Amino acid sequence: PKQKRIAVLPGDGIGPEIVEEGAKVAKAAGEQFGYTLQFDFGLVGGGAIERLKQPLPQETLTLCRESDAVLLGAVGGPRWDRNPPELRPEKALLGLRKQLDLFANLRPATLFPGLAKSSALKPEVLDGVDLLVVRELTSGIYFGKQFTEQTERGAKATDTLVYEEHEIERIVRRAFEIAKGRRKKLTSVDKANILESSRLWRKVVDRVAEEYPDVQVEHMLVDNCAMQIIRRPTDFDVIVTENMFGDILSDEAAILTGSIGMLPSASLGGGDRGLYEPVHGSAPDIAGQGVANPIATILSVAMMFRHSFQDDEAAKAIEGAVTDVFASGARTMDVVSAGELALSTEELGDKVVEALKRYHRDP
Ligand code: NAD
Ligand code: IPM
Ligand code: MN
Repeated sequence: PKQKRIAVLPGDGIGPEIVEEGAKVAKAAGEQFGYTLQFDFGLVGGGAIERLKQPLPQETLTLCRESDAVLLGAVGGPRWDRNPPELRPEKALLGLRKQLDLFANLRPATLFPGLAKSSALKPEVLDGVDLLVVRELTSGIYFGKQFTEQTERGAKATDTLVYEEHEIERIVRRAFEIAKGRRKKLTSVDKANILESSRLWRKVVDRVAEEYPDVQVEHMLVDNCAMQIIRRPTDFDVIVTENMFGDILSDEAAILTGSIGMLPSASLGGGDRGLYEPVHGSAPDIAGQGVANPIATILSVAMMFRHSFQDDEAAKAIEGAVTDVFASGARTMDVVSAGELALSTEELGDKVVEALKRYHRDP
């Protein structure tokens, strides 16, 4: 059997509840598809601040470096919202992404059967939605210089947005490669009418585009994109964009799928190691109730098999099991419609494990 080590970082809020279901599905898929999986748990975020006085302890980072993949729940919560920047749970995410050089963040938004009516949008607008946001993850305003000064008129806070050409080139190239394997349409999103970094971004896209004549490229300003994504979502295939625009547009894209609880992600670098986490946060408002949607995390596990274990068949099996579960009418509170019964986080995870049993590797 293939041996893989998975670092499991449940984190805060609903993190432990959803990661439990993700790990359960990973275990079931591992058994079915010939893996020996080792799960090693680590502290991250608020929990790590409480126990070790730092959001990303060295031992957690080492664990991740020694693993084939990282499965993360979510970090953050009101308890730490007033902490100084270095002692904020969210800092752990930035540290992991940067330290592991995970510059390419893939956030697919797909509509599952029966869920169109759970969305705030009209079903006919959503029919056939299948887009992928490719978000740059290790640069931009998230990693620029930040400081606050005192002036005679009061405090003055600065954030800086910096992109180097090579940082743009590697994410753009990754997006072209991905688009080539899909419907061959790439939308590059920027704010080139205002931002210097966006003007460089556009130049790089045009240059790299010459190497991919079979991919249709368009540039779109981010404000227009925010509108088009909900007006005509099926026109989009792959969207490539900088760090903060990608953060915002992907939460918006979640509405196409019915709920933010549906959106998985993979954060990748140059090699096979990746970090897999739902797009949503720690949802403090529903934490501890056992009602969170575990599908974003379960679909992140599918992405782990695809991108870190190079096993498309196992990934498709998990995605197939999720499709079957939704087709059967099973769903959590965030995507139930009138007359449907909401299942708990654990019950939905069990349904996916059950549905997975019908999938086997082709001989
Ligand atoms: P959030 O994504 O946690 O929650 C937004 C809304 O969506 C809430 O109403 C929540 O209940 C709902 N929701 C989220 N996930 C859900 C799920 N799986 N099932 C059902 N409903 C779900 O965003 P927020 O409230 O802005 O942030 C809360 C905390 O999470 C903050 O501390 C923030 O910094 C952090 N955060 C962490 C991550 C991460 O760890 N990757 C991502 C985003 C936000
Ligand atoms: C996400 C989150 C993070 C981000 C925060 C919590 C740092 O919103 O993963 O989308 O902005 O990248
Ligand atoms: Mn976000």
